[in-house]
Amino acid sequence: MNTSKQPAWLDNAIFYEIYPQSFKDTNGDGIGDFNGITEKLDYIKELGCNAIWLNPCFDSPFGDAGYDVSDYLLAAPRYGTNEDLKRLFGEAHKRGMHILLDLVPGHTSVEHKWFRESMKAEKNEYTDRYVWTDSIWEEPQGMGCIRGISDRDGSCAVNFFSHQPALNYGFYKPDPDKKWQQSMDSEGPKATLEAMKDVMRFWLSLGCDGFRVDMAGSLVKHDEDGKGTIALWQNVRGFLDREFPEAAMVSEWGEPDKSLRGGFHMDFLLHFGPSHYNDLFRCAEPFFSSRGKGDVSKFVKKYVENYEKSEKKGLICIPSGNHDMDRLSRGVRGDNLKIAFAFLLSMPGAPFIYYGDEIGMRYVENLTSVEGGYGRTGSRSPMQWDDTANAGFSAAPAEKLYIKQDDSPDRPTVKAQISDENSLYSEIKRLISVRQSHSALQSKGEIEFLYAEKNAYPLAYLRSAGDEKILVIINPAARETNFDCKYLLKEKIYSFGEGVSVNGERITVPPCYAGFFLV
Ligand code: GLC
Ligand code: CA
Repeated sequence: MNTSKQPAWLDNAIFYEIYPQSFKDTNGDGIGDFNGITEKLDYIKELGCNAIWLNPCFDSPFGDAGYDVSDYLLAAPRYGTNEDLKRLFGEAHKRGMHILLDLVPGHTSVEHKWFRESMKAEKNEYTDRYVWTDSIWEEPQGMGCIRGISDRDGSCAVNFFSHQPALNYGFYKPDPDKKWQQSMDSEGPKATLEAMKDVMRFWLSLGCDGFRVDMAGSLVKHDEDGKGTIALWQNVRGFLDREFPEAAMVSEWGEPDKSLRGGFHMDFLLHFGPSHYNDLFRCAEPFFSSRGKGDVSKFVKKYVENYEKSEKKGLICIPSGNHDMDRLSRGVRGDNLKIAFAFLLSMPGAPFIYYGDEIGMRYVENLTSVEGGYGRTGSRSPMQWDDTANAGFSAAPAEKLYIKQDDSPDRPTVKAQISDENSLYSEIKRLISVRQSHSALQSKGEIEFLYAEKNAYPLAYLRSAGDEKILVIINPAARETNFDCKYLLKEKIYSFGEGVSVNGERITVPPCYAGFFLV
């Protein structure tokens, strides 16, 4: 695949991730819903985001917040109906916005009809839909398993929690002594893939614009180099090119050289694996800290490696956070939140803003786990809209809310931040509008790092597209820093803070500063 096949709207896409249960409740049951999202589309658009990633919203027992699907074709009733979801797609499109659903192709809930059928002793259509060994006494190596709850004699592999049985896409190199390890091209795995295409077909026909794909890199088993999984996704891309060429795909994979080869348009930098993403915001001494003791160099080295390996086949996307990691504001404080967004919104790839991060919503400490959230629960609390009851999230009694809200008296709200031009919200809005008026800053503009030294500040890089070249200078440290740069600063197009000075090739950068310059 090449970039010309990417849906054009990805060139300047800025995503907003919505965790549906926590965004806006319109019927007073304490849980967010589709109509709530529809009602807030104008808010998202006003901020400057033009695309949405919606976390799983399908029927589910919610043992993993919906990443345990029990019916792929039915919207979870607590969020509304398929019709409500369709209306949401339509309303988004009217505003020039796009919506990606969250596809969970690797596993289902134990309550899915496919799994219940596959647990039966008699052979049936679903017998090979999941990865089963052929004896209860044999566990699938290297994977957890479910055993002892089926009439069928066997253990079923699981992917994540022990109630998420692994769908069967086959083994890259099946062990010939283990008959239950099927090859990718045997009947069972092929039927699983076709069933997943049907799911995609269903929602794309209803109006969704593509998918964020959960654990996309782990479908084929015993596939260390990802070759089998890449081939599988190329097959899916072939199907999409024939039937839904405009469908956009982003993977939770974290290895862009593989995922983009598999036909994904975008891959995430993840908070686990080798990306060094956590060095920026989530570690003992993050780079984005006024203490100025962080180290951005390993992140940049890995980023450049990925950028070169992926040969501009697609986009590497850096999220502000997501439903699986600590809120950005837990590790990054004060002005540094603004500086962090100056970085996030001036990097290549499509930026992803996690709901509430635009107002610096806090990680809610000491919560009991909700729906398999565990430590992630504190990042999933209900959105804080205004100064009415439950911060305008819901009319339900506070104790009925999906997750307890941040109850500190100074909790940030949308209402307060919109009316304050010095708020994080207002800064992000300015940054988005600068990005949207310069193609060098957008998804496909190229990047060259000019200064990203070990244990040193600032960070400086050049973004370019056509004749436009923009120098970005980021200094989270509360001390003046400097670097050498051969480019001549022509015009400032954005800054947080003032006072960059140039002496020959030496640029001196004030404390806690971010600036973009045409060069
Ligand atoms: C992904 C999701 C996470 C979920 C897991 C299992 O990492 O982002 O929330 O628990 O997959 O589906
Ligand atoms: Ca509701």
